[in-house]
Amino acid sequence: MNVSKAIRTKRAVRQYTEESVSDDVIRQILATARWSQSSKNTQPWDFFVITDKDLLAELSQSGDFAKHLPSAAFAIALVGDSDNYMVGFDLGQTAMSLQLAAWEVGIGSCLISFHRAEQAAEILGVPEVKYVRIGISFGYPSPEHKAAKMGGRQALDDITHWNNW
Ligand SMILES: Cc1cc2nc3c(=O)[nH]c(=O)nc-3n(C[C@H](O)[C@H](O)[C@H](O)COP(=O)(O)O)c2cc1C
Repeated sequence: MNVSKAIRTKRAVRQYTEESVSDDVIRQILATARWSQSSKNTQPWDFFVITDKDLLAELSQSGDFAKHLPSAAFAIALVGDSDNYMVGFDLGQTAMSLQLAAWEVGIGSCLISFHRAEQAAEILGVPEVKYVRIGISFGYPSPEHKAAKMGGRQALDDITHWNNW
């Protein structure tokens, strides 16, 4: 899959088959994402992989829109070194890398906001000096999966400014 096709077709997937994803495939996805760029190459992230179904179910309580998390084959919580804009930006880049690397091998995904971030950190046992605000669920898309109706995109001309606002 070429890059532009991957970006255009990677949509939020919240319905998964029951097929598991092998540790080797998960490692391959992580190995690609670790090459994401970051401010001053600080790489201010840890990837917390969750394959345990009970842990997925427990973690789903930390977000207001995380109902799909327990049915995922696995999830990755993005753990940041600080809770600031730049680290958040860097984590966003790894998030996209993880999602695209997964999509390349047919695995769908969806971001999850942990609205109760402290609860998420406690469930995962993340050290107090680290931050967990976002996770990503992954799994093979169920045949019932359809891209969200509300999921169009703004017209290019409405969001593009050439030389003048
Ligand atoms: C920062 C961020 C947080 C998100 N949090 C959630 C979430 O908590 N639950 C959820 O179901 N989707 C979440 N999403 C997924 C968005 O709803 C989805 O990416 C957006 O609607 C576009 O979907 P589409 O690519 O299928 O059109 C989040 C996305 C981002 C970028």
